[in-house]
Amino acid sequence: MYVIAIANYKGGCGKTTTAINLSACLAYEGNKTLLVDFDPQAYATIGVSWSSKEAKREIYPVIMNAGLADCQIVESIQTVEEGLDFISADESLVQVNEQLSRQVRRHERLSTCLQQIERQNLHYDYVVIDCASNMDVLMENALFCCDELIFPIKTSFLSLHSITNMLKFCHRIVDKRSYPIQVRAVATMFDVRKKIAREVLSNIKDYFGDYLYQTVVRTNVKLEEAVGLGVPITIYDRQSSGFQDYKSLAREVSKQRIVRS
Ligand SMILES: Nc1ncnc2c1ncn2[C@@H]1O[C@H](COP(=O)(O)OP(=O)(O)OP(=O)(O)O)[C@@H](O)[C@H]1O
Ligand SMILES: [Mg+2]
Repeated sequence: MYVIAIANYKGGCGKTTTAINLSACLAYEGNKTLLVDFDPQAYATIGVSWSSKEAKREIYPVIMNAGLADCQIVESIQTVEEGLDFISADESLVQVNEQLSRQVRRHERLSTCLQQIERQNLHYDYVVIDCASNMDVLMENALFCCDELIFPIKTSFLSLHSITNMLKFCHRIVDKRSYPIQVRAVATMFDVRKKIAREVLSNIKDYFGDYLYQTVVRTNVKLEEAVGLGVPITIYDRQSSGFQDYKSLAREVSKQRIVRS
């Protein structure tokens, strides 16, 4: 199980679009994948909602019961399509921040839940976590349990400003872990016709060097339409540049994967 957190302190940079479509493309490439919506806005849940036939337990009670016998993470898993499962969120997830704020080891909840999945012999090649834009208890949980953190960075003005703060937050969590986090970035919403986009991409390349995925996700209206219809791009349009880009990213992610010891 290789756990990827999709996070960036900056809002609207393509986290949810990346979480949904990277998951879907990892599954398309033959990897059993679990997408976890870890944002109280629940846009990832909406983005795969076409498949929800029944109301299932959401991530909030699962996190609050982490470590208990009735945590029921396995019962909360739904299937989107062949190879792709997900766990939904809703606005109640925001209560985690308040309710756990004074608890020691509050950052270990999601990790404990994912271990429970493994203990029940459910095999996933990848778990992809869609994070909110806040550096809070939810984000601490996602960073504590991930093998890799992917920063989606929008190729527009001010996009690099959030990174330093995020990396500081990340280092605080790494200190609590027994293994490092692979930090990588992916450039999103790239429009080659815009000078500012080309300049920002060049800055992102300078900043991240080898830690920037070579795939650049182009602006593609099909990605927006797919979220609105509640389907991943693998189902909506396999001719689109959005599908090509996220498939290419999925291949790169698989290639760069470092198996957690
Ligand atoms: N490559 C793309 N091409 C076109 N539109 C895109 C692309 N990526 C994201 N978008 C659109 O940009 C908006 C923001 O994207 P998204 O919701 O993925 O960002 P986010 O970082 O998850 O936002 P938030 O901080 O609110 O969680 C959405 O309307 C989405 O459909
Ligand atoms: Mg989002």
